[in-house]
Amino acid sequence: DWSMAAYRAEMIAKIRAQVGDGRVICGLSGGVDSSVAAVLIHEAIGDRLTCIYVDHGLMRQGESEQVVGMFRDAYNIPLVHVDAADLFIDALEGEADPETKRKTIGRLFIETFEAEAAKIAADGRGAPGFLAQGTLYPDVIESVSFSGGPSVTIKSHHNVGGLPDRMNMKLVEPLRELFKDEVRALGRELGLPESFIGRHPFPGPGLAIRCPGGVTREKLDILRKADAIYLDEIRKAGLYDQIWQAFAVLLPVQTVGVMGDGRTYEFVLALRAVTSVDGMTADFYAFDMAFLGRAATRIINEVRGVNRVVYDVTSKPPGTIEWE
Ligand code: XMP
Repeated sequence: DWSMAAYRAEMIAKIRAQVGDGRVICGLSGGVDSSVAAVLIHEAIGDRLTCIYVDHGLMRQGESEQVVGMFRDAYNIPLVHVDAADLFIDALEGEADPETKRKTIGRLFIETFEAEAAKIAADGRGAPGFLAQGTLYPDVIESVSFSGGPSVTIKSHHNVGGLPDRMNMKLVEPLRELFKDEVRALGRELGLPESFIGRHPFPGPGLAIRCPGGVTREKLDILRKADAIYLDEIRKAGLYDQIWQAFAVLLPVQTVGVMGDGRTYEFVLALRAVTSVDGMTADFYAFDMAFLGRAATRIINEVRGVNRVVYDVTSKPPGTIEWE
């Protein structure tokens, strides 16, 4: 007899038993998973939890402010907000290889996180012995195998196995046995707002993997604006909750267009939307053409730097959800 109320009580007891009177630090990503993990752990051990939000400058429009606002102000959970955008974006600027980008982000994330953890350890309240992560069951298996096939790494997920031994901390992973829909149910059980629970998943490496090729501040800016318009149109059409993930990808390709009586030579933007149960397989979402036309027109009219919009009709497999 499965119930989230029982799971919540069980996990709180488990966290208390594991942590004792120790301290925990938790990396917040802004997503549902790490948020649910943090709220659950906060409920178990209170202010012996400190959250670290490493702001890599690769978040969507307005997202960092929302995350920080919710945790600090609504939940009163101790939170350190680290603005590391320059560090990450400078390192990504000339790098086009998807795996190198992921690894660079993973490495910088760990270094930044470690430095903050060291500061927390030096605050006079005793060094945290535990590190919390919002790892889900699919994260655990997908990073080592694909659809039951041969053991091959498709993508290095930067939130799995990223714990360097030298941090000498024990892992607290209360969501390790759960699928996404179960994490959402648990979040509801914990009283997280519906608007937050229902949010589409967002990858740890953020917009960097939605910007194939080298990442620049200018490209991120264009992508952020276009992505916000696309999501706005999806919400207005009442489609947000029917879609597992929807996002824009800024291609490193410029094409010729015409605007007014002038020639333009600007980037191509791809729109992606998929339905899925757990992210392991996915189908592209069949928007009607009028919707796509509306979204494309708004993006091209409102975002300088994009003059062509295409829609990705690839399912997973053979595609993956993200482009990198
Ligand atoms: P793919 O692109 O592999 O993505 O089909 C499957 C799901 O995982 C998300 N994703 C990530 N999530 N860290 C994460 O936390 C990552 O490095 C990462 N890469 C992909 C992706 O958005 C989709 O929901």
